[in-house]
Amino acid sequence: MKKMKILIDCDTGVDDSLAILYALRKPEFEILGFTTGFGNTDAVQAAENTLRLLKLASREGEIPVSIGENAPLKGKWDGPVVHVHGANGISGVELPPSQQKPAEEKASDFIVRLARENPGELTLITLGRMTNVAKALEKEPGLPKLVRSLVAMGGTYHAPGNVSPVAEANIAGDPEAADIVLMAGFDTTIVGLDVTTKIHLTSKTFADLREYCAPENRPIADYLVQAFIPYRAFSRDSDGNLDYCPMHDPLAMLVAIDPSVCLMRRLPARVECGDGLCRGMIVTDGRNQHMDAPYANICVDVDEDLAINRLFGVFL
Ligand code: BDR
Ligand code: CA
Repeated sequence: MKKMKILIDCDTGVDDSLAILYALRKPEFEILGFTTGFGNTDAVQAAENTLRLLKLASREGEIPVSIGENAPLKGKWDGPVVHVHGANGISGVELPPSQQKPAEEKASDFIVRLARENPGELTLITLGRMTNVAKALEKEPGLPKLVRSLVAMGGTYHAPGNVSPVAEANIAGDPEAADIVLMAGFDTTIVGLDVTTKIHLTSKTFADLREYCAPENRPIADYLVQAFIPYRAFSRDSDGNLDYCPMHDPLAMLVAIDPSVCLMRRLPARVECGDGLCRGMIVTDGRNQHMDAPYANICVDVDEDLAINRLFGVFL
């Protein structure tokens, strides 16, 4: 089996952790590295969480974790999203510490090196702000030609935003970086709120995971059950949901290996970087060809049951 080489850029919070554990259990992925950034938590804590997840999945010491940017290209970071992801980014769950230390190499240098060492083979999967990739582009403008593709969880096409009427957290958290990345000419796929909010993870999803997980995945299932309790409660209280949370980052990870779960439109896309109401909005041009921007694959619909079954199937 030819594996898909990936680098995961994350701000390891609750939904990132499900995406990471799925990737670690999906044999078709060859994870060459992790890079971390600010967002749900800071870049150092995100690396710490990632290292502990590697240990949880019995993969300690196998995959480098490199720390990246702790602030957007312009302006300041508002700080961790404690009310959604808890004080440590993973709902306060205390996973056993890992012996593995973060890599010495900075995230942007690591991205460039991996891309050069694997020309045409590497897929970048971004689950947070795109700041590390934007910094890597500064160092290697030829990055889009060196990597195979880029899959990003972020933005929204027609669904309401989650940090403003029109903007999603990962893009709004560093609009300048996101626009640089969209304009750079990667083979880009955007997995945004139109599809991630159509996936409903319920108490039954996690009860089933606990009941049917393979014995070797018991610690993973126990962790996920615990970490998602406050995350689902936040979703219920803030969005008026009855008993579910959306599934953001894991869907991007799934789409990277299994794009058939989503319906996509191919449209020119870039990000509004002005200071007004629409800051951080992804602007697509449905008229085709009028806007001077590279085309991106924008996920517009998803098969919810298929996505949940394929995602959680790796733990059974
Ligand atoms: C995105 O923001 C973060 O809270 C999540 O981890 C996800 O990447 C959803 O808007
Ligand atoms: Ca994330």
